Amino acid sequence: MMLNLLRPNTWRTGLFCLMLPLLATGSVQAQSPTLFQQLGQEQGISLVVDELLRLALQDQRISATFKDSNMRRLAKLLKEQICVVSDGPCNYTGDDMKVVHESMGISSAQFNALAEDLQIAMDKFNVPSTTQNRLIARLAPMKRDIVRAKK
Ligand code: HEM
Repeated sequence: MMLNLLRPNTWRTGLFCLMLPLLATGSVQAQSPTLFQQLGQEQGISLVVDELLRLALQDQRISATFKDSNMRRLAKLLKEQICVVSDGPCNYTGDDMKVVHESMGISSAQFNALAEDLQIAMDKFNVPSTTQNRLIARLAPMKRDIVRAKK
């Protein structure tokens, strides 16, 4: 019996038996990709954000809001932020969303317009709709800090 335990085959069978319950409960699985990976990491996010800001500047519903903005800085910070919210390895170095946007008087319709432009930008780079929805769902809670209800 003791000798049997030392045989490689016995070890292999034993290991397999130990792994079975783990496999059955799904504890041992290839890790599912993060949203950051699904978006194509920094490079994919960078392409989408540049396209989003290009569209936003042409979008009559929101373009006026950006007329005095430093678009280079905004692009850099938006890329960092999308990297962070999608679980990427970045730091967001910008200011708080509420503080930044509160004086802009952004309406709910304008928030939705930017979200629509973001979807168009993601379509351009063939981001799958499930990935698009995951990102939109993570940005949506920011709406309460960005939109200022008009009186
Ligand atoms: C989920 C939606 C949004 C996100 C994640 C977002 C993110 C950001 C970030 C990261 C910044 C830079 C913060 C800083 O300067 O420290 C910023 C600034 C700004 N955002 Fe937004 N934003 C959103 C919605 C909007 C909307 C809907 C508008 C207008 C329609 C808008 C207009 C601006 C403007 C004008 C600036 C200032 C840019 C500058 O002059 O430096 N944002 N936003």
